[in-house]
Amino acid sequence: MLTAAENDLLTRTGPDTAMGQYFRRFWQPAALSEELPEADGPPIRLTVLGEELVAFRDSDGRVGVVDRRCPHRGADLFFGRNEECGLRCLYHGWKFDVTGRAVDLPNVPAGVRHHETVRLKAYPVREFGEIIWVYMGPEAGALPEVPQLEFGLMAADHRFVTKQLMACNWAQCMEGDLDTSHFSFLHMPAPQVPSNENPDAPADERRLKWIRKDPMPKFSILDHEVGFVVGGARATDEADEAYWRITQYSLPANGTGPSTLPGETYYGFTLVPISDESCWMYCYAWNPDRPLGDAERHKMAHEGHSIIAQTDAHYVPVRNKLNDYMIDRAVQKNRTYSGVKGLAEQDIMIQESQGPIVDRTRETLTATDAAVVRFRRTVMAAAAALADSGEEPSAPWRHQAYTIRPGSWFAAEGTPFEDVLMERFGHNRGRVA
Ligand code: FES
Ligand SMILES: [Fe+2]
Repeated sequence: MLTAAENDLLTRTGPDTAMGQYFRRFWQPAALSEELPEADGPPIRLTVLGEELVAFRDSDGRVGVVDRRCPHRGADLFFGRNEECGLRCLYHGWKFDVTGRAVDLPNVPAGVRHHETVRLKAYPVREFGEIIWVYMGPEAGALPEVPQLEFGLMAADHRFVTKQLMACNWAQCMEGDLDTSHFSFLHMPAPQVPSNENPDAPADERRLKWIRKDPMPKFSILDHEVGFVVGGARATDEADEAYWRITQYSLPANGTGPSTLPGETYYGFTLVPISDESCWMYCYAWNPDRPLGDAERHKMAHEGHSIIAQTDAHYVPVRNKLNDYMIDRAVQKNRTYSGVKGLAEQDIMIQESQGPIVDRTRETLTATDAAVVRFRRTVMAAAAALADSGEEPSAPWRHQAYTIRPGSWFAAEGTPFEDVLMERFGHNRGRVA
């Protein structure tokens, strides 16, 4: 349980808030590269951490992420002309380059020094892993590097990248991912559907059976340079063996899927607040061992798979709050625990159902919420340290420490978590060389 003030600290990310200032110390995904597919193409509107922005790709292919309001009289630059290395306001033709410099002010008389003084607010931009990242932190001083998440280091044919709209606060999405115990309920078949008891059943069905049988995984958590790694151990059919689901949390809002066995595809995401009551979930799938196949890629792009929801052309989930996620009560009665199609949609439904900002003063936590509690403590302490004593976070500067993997593993019963991590990843926190 949190106090109302703590809940505000955790969930509010506007420019004048502690968490908002903390988020601004990290590169944030602002758009997918595919949203700006061509030089001099149409600009797009963005809202990041409550700030209304416009992004455009100039004649040289560089991306600008700038304030949406023209500094002359506030016209919306979304309607602007993207031409000859700059974005030109439609109202009186003022033109700005990707750095926000005024390159043409056609109605300003010669001798008036507006060219030197007028600037459009523009944020530094990088493209990494087919995502356009923006740095909204302090202007003075050096810039950190974009976090080197493993999907971004792969050749493009080894990964798939997209995003989906979440109609609730970022922190409850993060908590949903870290609470791997909910898998034993929300994502399961209906209770009367038998598990596949065949010991030679496909890996997916065996995993499902153990998750179902053990709704109280034992959690272990180990801190690392940019967050922590969580292991949930469940019983298997063998008395001397445990099934571990391991997930990574990295500051401020990166998570992963814990299911992957060696050789399988990995899943991860980065959350970015739009407002305090909505966020984008940038989702990525990657396979270090092989390129993703056409069928796999098609499924992720058009039907949804794992943490990736089926979305429309605007990245809005097809099964969403407005249509009650197309919940099918007959399916809920007879076939699946939720009656909602798609693992991602089940998560979205339940996270949004907690309310736009869940009231954490009214909750009752239990043992399997251990990672949720660690997440809150970690991120709230870091944001408070910056706000209260000006202590700059170190995580943004440890960009290489973001190359970490999640995954599943089987270990002898009683194996310490650190040893499980060594067995699975060859590193005691899941780092990849
Ligand atoms: S409002 Fe943009 S040029 Fe006048
Ligand atoms: Fe889930």
